[in-house]
Amino acid sequence: TILILDFGSQYSHLITRRCRELNVYAELMPCTTLLKDIHFKPKGIILSGSPYSVYDADAPHVDPAIFDLGVPILGICYGLQEIAWNLKGNVTQCDHREYGYANIQINRFGNGNSSVDALFEGLGDEMQVWMSHGDQLQSLPPNFHIIGRTDTAPFAAIAHDSKPIYGIQFHPEVTHSLRGKEVIARFVLNICRCRTNWTMEEFIGKEIARIREICGSKGRVIGAVSGGVDSTVAAKLMQEAIGDRFHAIMVNNGVLRLNEAQQVEEMLKQNLGVNLTVVDASELFLSRLDGVEDPEQKRRIIGNTFINVFESEASKIEAAAAAEEQNGAEAKGKIEWLLQGTLYPDVIESISFKGPSATIKTHHNVGGLLKDMKLKLIEPLRELFKDEVRVLGRLLSIPAPLVKRHPFPGPGLAIRILGPVTREQVKILQQADHIYIEEIRKANLYDQISQAFAVLLPVKAVGVMGDKRTYEQVIALRAVTSEDFMTADWYVFPADVLRRISSRITNEVNGVNRVTYDISSKPPGTVEWL
Ligand code: XMP
Repeated sequence: TILILDFGSQYSHLITRRCRELNVYAELMPCTTLLKDIHFKPKGIILSGSPYSVYDADAPHVDPAIFDLGVPILGICYGLQEIAWNLKGNVTQCDHREYGYANIQINRFGNGNSSVDALFEGLGDEMQVWMSHGDQLQSLPPNFHIIGRTDTAPFAAIAHDSKPIYGIQFHPEVTHSLRGKEVIARFVLNICRCRTNWTMEEFIGKEIARIREICGSKGRVIGAVSGGVDSTVAAKLMQEAIGDRFHAIMVNNGVLRLNEAQQVEEMLKQNLGVNLTVVDASELFLSRLDGVEDPEQKRRIIGNTFINVFESEASKIEAAAAAEEQNGAEAKGKIEWLLQGTLYPDVIESISFKGPSATIKTHHNVGGLLKDMKLKLIEPLRELFKDEVRVLGRLLSIPAPLVKRHPFPGPGLAIRILGPVTREQVKILQQADHIYIEEIRKANLYDQISQAFAVLLPVKAVGVMGDKRTYEQVIALRAVTSEDFMTADWYVFPADVLRRISSRITNEVNGVNRVTYDISSKPPGTVEWL
């Protein structure tokens, strides 16, 4: 295991990902974690970047005991300054912030296997790297050598002359550092000598065994499924682990895509072999949402209604099970656990040393269920990133189209109707969205896009149809590419695809006479409009 100590950089989770991509398990912990509270022995430690300067009065610092542990340490950006701060180097503020590309010249000390050269071994004499910092090193800590410099940073990379301690000013974890992944590989594989045993093949076996141990021989687990990747993979894993002691519930909340409830039901029944209850609660949701405009209120209504429906279904399942058992069926026990498809980024968010980031939107989740139902949580995906979940899904024989589905938010189309939600508006948006996704699939672009959807704007515009003036609504199309949805870029469509989509939507969807394309990235936009 590689331990990554997080000082609050926006890139910390990427360091974790890069290690995992090398099949090495890596775990992120707050930088202030004390060595005595870490229950595993890391084979290496990486110190992340940070928005702080090491000389800020409130700057975070690591437990100095990590420097006596004898395991290799790599400091990235602030991590480099933290090493210098601990080992008596001199850090000062640059007169300018450095942000963007730089070329680093590598300095070698010869004889090939010296530990000083190990970090950049075989990586040439110069590399393009990504810098983002305000402080830099002014002098070397004792016993350190310069292993890389740029035009503006004479101490851009340093290494201890006999201990495996390295510091680099650039960010190897971002893709703009062209050979960054290789630098991380040198550290993790060559210097720390980590075993490459973090694979989804190994994960399946271990996780199924862990679930069986947690759930023992009796007691049921319930979980919501939506047709999305996370809930589908989590459900399949539970099915493999405890068979029909797991019950999946799918709720149609009336703001799903066109025909989605039926399609998801079919796919799940065919592919998961789980106990599946589908509840059509669309009338209840739509009546509670009728006329609601405020986005947070939409989310609240959907979240609360979901809990009501889910709980009432759970009690029906429990009652039916009790009745069966009375009639002599094998006793599988009461519902004791709630399955959740929590992923590692959610976990990171909640353990970040900065604390959970300010709420920009309250994302709908079913956490509220626990309070009322007194269920214990089971979260088999909480160590995984989304791309790992997709690999896991394929290994569990879930078909590719299910595993590659774009994410769809819990509050569904309600947060893509910018004005008041009405049945009429839902219908218009469902049709426009259906055409959009259908054309994306026909053009074979679905897998290149991370998420695509239509948004119904609450404004009317003038148009002309035949010889008549029209005054109708506007659809905005959104398509983004993103690694983790924390940042996203808008997708560049071929013009003919956009033309086809626009003409089909204006011709086929009553009430829409104009289509626009959203060219905002995140930040400053978000993926959804609400
Ligand atoms: P934003 O809009 O925050 O979206 O940039 C990032 C990702 O989160 C999804 N999203 C939601 N998912 N409930 C959800 O389950 C929500 O309320 C919600 N809001 C946004 C969004 O679709 C994108 O994938």
